[in-house]
Amino acid sequence: MRTLIAGNWKMYKSASEVRAFCEELQKKKLSLSTDLAIFPQAVHLPIFADVLSTKPTKISWGPQNIFYKESGAFTGELSPLAAKELGATMAIVGHSERRQFFGETNRSAAERALGALAFGIQPIFCVGETLEERDANRTMEVINQQLAPIFDLSEEAISHFIIAYEPVWAIGTGKTATATQAQEVQAQIRKSVESHWGKENAANCRILYGGSVKPENAREILAQPDVNGALVGGASLEISSFLSIAAAANQ
Ligand code: PGA
Repeated sequence: MRTLIAGNWKMYKSASEVRAFCEELQKKKLSLSTDLAIFPQAVHLPIFADVLSTKPTKISWGPQNIFYKESGAFTGELSPLAAKELGATMAIVGHSERRQFFGETNRSAAERALGALAFGIQPIFCVGETLEERDANRTMEVINQQLAPIFDLSEEAISHFIIAYEPVWAIGTGKTATATQAQEVQAQIRKSVESHWGKENAANCRILYGGSVKPENAREILAQPDVNGALVGGASLEISSFLSIAAAANQ
């Protein structure tokens, strides 16, 4: 399975900064064996489509949130069809910041993921525990509750599904889970996936780690057998650190 290094830009960068990043990326001759993806603010997706569509650098892009209906009276939401028209092939779904600040629930996150899939957009479905939940030994209980609504997906849909394990206490805090902690949880996530979707689907399911991934810690984390890539926030904003993380996956 190819490693995926995905950059979550959150609510950062102006249009001109996005364009400068894309143009610099487009000029690079990369010989990476990893897949790359970037998730800018939705309003900046056209810049990716404009600069990177026909370029040798193979990179995917998509929104940080997505709705599950094609159109309708849903003020402030992003239609998967509109995202697709801008070249989006992936979307982040259920990020902990959406859950914490914008009332996203396990059920609504799962609906968004299914909606994205229906339009051929791969969801990166985020799960993870808070520090209190970890301290109370509830990590897997919480993650299994987050995953429960997606476990009735069809076989065809499953093969396009990506899971990101992002412990809430490690996001934007500089506190990374150790490689061992990430591996421990991700192995259990794969077991849960296996119990619902079968051995083969579980073996092929990409599970990313996210939470303060940086060039300095990427290699050890990405070397874990159940870590198939990274969802990177802060360190994806600079092209050099983003590409160093991608290079670390190749070592
Ligand atoms: P971080 O963010 O790398 O800045 O911790 C990760 C994320 O929120 O996806």
